[in-house]
Amino acid sequence: DQVTRIVVLPGDGIGPEVTNEAISCLEMLSDHFELGLRFEEHPFGGAGIDAHGDPLPETTLHACRNSDAVFLGAVGGPKWDKAEKRPEVGLLGLRSALGLFANLRPSRVIPGLESFSPLKASIATGADVLVVRELTGGLYFGERTQSDDFASDLCTYSRVEVERIAHVAFQEARRRGSKVTSVDKANVLATSKLWRRIVEEVAAGYPDVTLDHMYVDAAAMALVSAPGRFDVILTENLFGDILSDQLSVIGGSIGLLGSASRGADGPMMFEPIHGSAPDIAGLDIANPAGAIASAAMLLEIGLGLHEHAAMLNNALEQVLLDGARTADLGGDSTCSSFGAQVREKLQERLDRHSAMAG
Ligand code: NAD
Ligand code: IPM
Ligand code: MN
Repeated sequence: DQVTRIVVLPGDGIGPEVTNEAISCLEMLSDHFELGLRFEEHPFGGAGIDAHGDPLPETTLHACRNSDAVFLGAVGGPKWDKAEKRPEVGLLGLRSALGLFANLRPSRVIPGLESFSPLKASIATGADVLVVRELTGGLYFGERTQSDDFASDLCTYSRVEVERIAHVAFQEARRRGSKVTSVDKANVLATSKLWRRIVEEVAAGYPDVTLDHMYVDAAAMALVSAPGRFDVILTENLFGDILSDQLSVIGGSIGLLGSASRGADGPMMFEPIHGSAPDIAGLDIANPAGAIASAAMLLEIGLGLHEHAAMLNNALEQVLLDGARTADLGGDSTCSSFGAQVREKLQERLDRHSAMAG
């Protein structure tokens, strides 16, 4: 039998709570359709420090390299903020080791759930944006120096790094609204000038996709004044980090958003875009929707199981449309009860599927 190895890194804070709900959904689908998904958990982040004195233990990295896909909850927390190697260092190390240069972060205002958005319905309605964030370059990976009175972070981008992420954005745009907005700070930064020039060159190979450029400050403004003007946002590492959190709120909550990261080859990684939320950890009130959405992306993008991904997404959306709300969306569903509701809806879909097949 075909076995698909999924390495699960629950991580810290609410990471294990939301991961648990997401993996239970995948297990249900795997059992029903005999997908042969095998899950193995490994310590990572703060949990890696506690178990092995390293946020990215050698055994964890080895398992990830030899997997078919990696699922991550979240890492970090006050307990390890002063650690010599913080949990976040482990996350950057893993992204880099797996060569995950492209991070896809989709966000939309779900039709019927416009009231989730803090924006006026007239502005929010129909917003549907994919952030394509460069994930292994820029300020995150440049040389750093730090002394008592001085610190520096070097921002670098090479032609190859910009070309490959630009190709991802244009290819994704072809499957959506055929529009790319490249976000940079080319009125100031040398890396942004290079970025803009190379994005223009790559764009020439995609005459069917419209390209425009925006400075990051103006883009931040447009995201909340006219989110509907965007389709795919292509941007560098730090800008993508910031803009994707901002974008998440337009759909209602950071707890709703999943993401997929991929490299040229090798296993892909799937994770909600939120962090370990130490302020609500252990209370069973986190929103597991972003983790469940990440699980659906694992099925769709990681394993090419489009129908199964659609079933899971559909069950998740139905639970929200039926009125289930965790605290971040003003409701009193718990993390586990929300997850259980998604699996109930999923079971209904599986039963219907069996009835049709039988
Ligand atoms: P955060 O995303 O953890 O939390 C920001 C706010 O959003 C908090 O008020 C939190 O309660 C809320 N929130 C986040 N996820 C939620 C969910 N699923 N349901 C309901 N509410 C949710 O960001 P932070 O507080 O800036 O960072 C906390 C820690 O997480 C830090 O150590 C940070 O470095 C780390 N972090 C990790 C990742 C990751 O592992 N990918 C991402 C972001 C931050
Ligand atoms: C994210 C997080 C990480 C990042 C941190 C924890 C290193 O904020 O995944 O968005 O900045 O990339
Ligand atoms: Mn972030």
